[in-house]
Amino acid sequence: MNDVLDFVSVRLDDENSELIILDQSKLPNDLIYHHYKSPEDIFNAIVTLQVRGAPAIGIAAAYGMYLDAKRHLLLRHDEFFQRFRQTKNYLASSRPTAVNLFWALNRMEGCLNEHKDQSRTEIIERLKEESENIRSEDEAVCLSIGEHALSLLKPGMGLLTHCNAGTLATAKYGTALAPIYLGQKRGYNFRVYADETRPLLQGARLTAWELQQVGIDVTLICDNMASIVMKQGHIDAVLVGCDRVAANGDTANKIGTSGVAVLAKHYGIPFYVCAPRSTIDIQTACGDDIEIELRKGEEISTTWYQKPMAPKGVKTYNPAFDVTDADLITAIITEKGIIYPPYNKSLKKLFEEGE
Ligand code: MRU
Repeated sequence: MNDVLDFVSVRLDDENSELIILDQSKLPNDLIYHHYKSPEDIFNAIVTLQVRGAPAIGIAAAYGMYLDAKRHLLLRHDEFFQRFRQTKNYLASSRPTAVNLFWALNRMEGCLNEHKDQSRTEIIERLKEESENIRSEDEAVCLSIGEHALSLLKPGMGLLTHCNAGTLATAKYGTALAPIYLGQKRGYNFRVYADETRPLLQGARLTAWELQQVGIDVTLICDNMASIVMKQGHIDAVLVGCDRVAANGDTANKIGTSGVAVLAKHYGIPFYVCAPRSTIDIQTACGDDIEIELRKGEEISTTWYQKPMAPKGVKTYNPAFDVTDADLITAIITEKGIIYPPYNKSLKKLFEEGE
């Protein structure tokens, strides 16, 4: 058995100028790979959550930029640059909350600008390199987050996680699941509780599946059961990923995360956010400034059922993320180390040191 999930969610097939995406919306029942060439296909894959999870979205978008530039290699100079900007804006409009999307697109644009005076073939080569770097750096970042997070944990602990912040959501290892994979390899024998994560069931369909694939002890619970498992003493720590951390430490993650954090505080359980530096948005002052994606009501009423499970025409409200207040977060675990409150100071320092 492998130590970590052996499926890659996003892969570049440069020879065929395609992006290969493992369709996460069909897991765990069907293992389907799509081969995409155009920005429209990639946009659609992001919107419909075939590829999801903040880092994986960024990686897909970066590859999308490279493939589109490659397809337009022969455009006139000004048209080539205009097309690049249009594609960037288009992909940026696919989902609003995860900052990695904008971060990855900005990196691709930065690369273009840096090499703008070189030959077109040279530019395309550099864009390919940059997109590959974004992918491979994410793998290294996740591994490092995993090591730092593992230093906070002890063998045999019960861990609760929400949504999917695993291999499927990243290049490899995940963020919140990285310490679990590393711990498994080192005999920590964690007991993992996965919230099902209504309404799109990323916890049930993805986290439970990917952990089960490698033989990790995982128990699936409905979201509203987190309180009882905490009260019964099954949970020693909560580990979650995130889509955007504001400068003051407020953290947007999958809807339901903030409720778990409130419960964890009530029961005195540490609540850890695993965040690559690319997910920390120092330009966003606090959680109120983070745009929360609103998705269709059918995801609540109909999507997973043979028949609609809500009266026809009922009003729905379906925010895809919520913001966990910084004061509920015990620590933010990055690839550079573990960050403690007060976050406005510690996150600022993290960015100053990185520059
Ligand atoms: O809507 P999703 O499935 O893209 O939401 C994903 C999450 O909320 C994850 O926890 C987050 O992106 C971190 S992934 C390492």
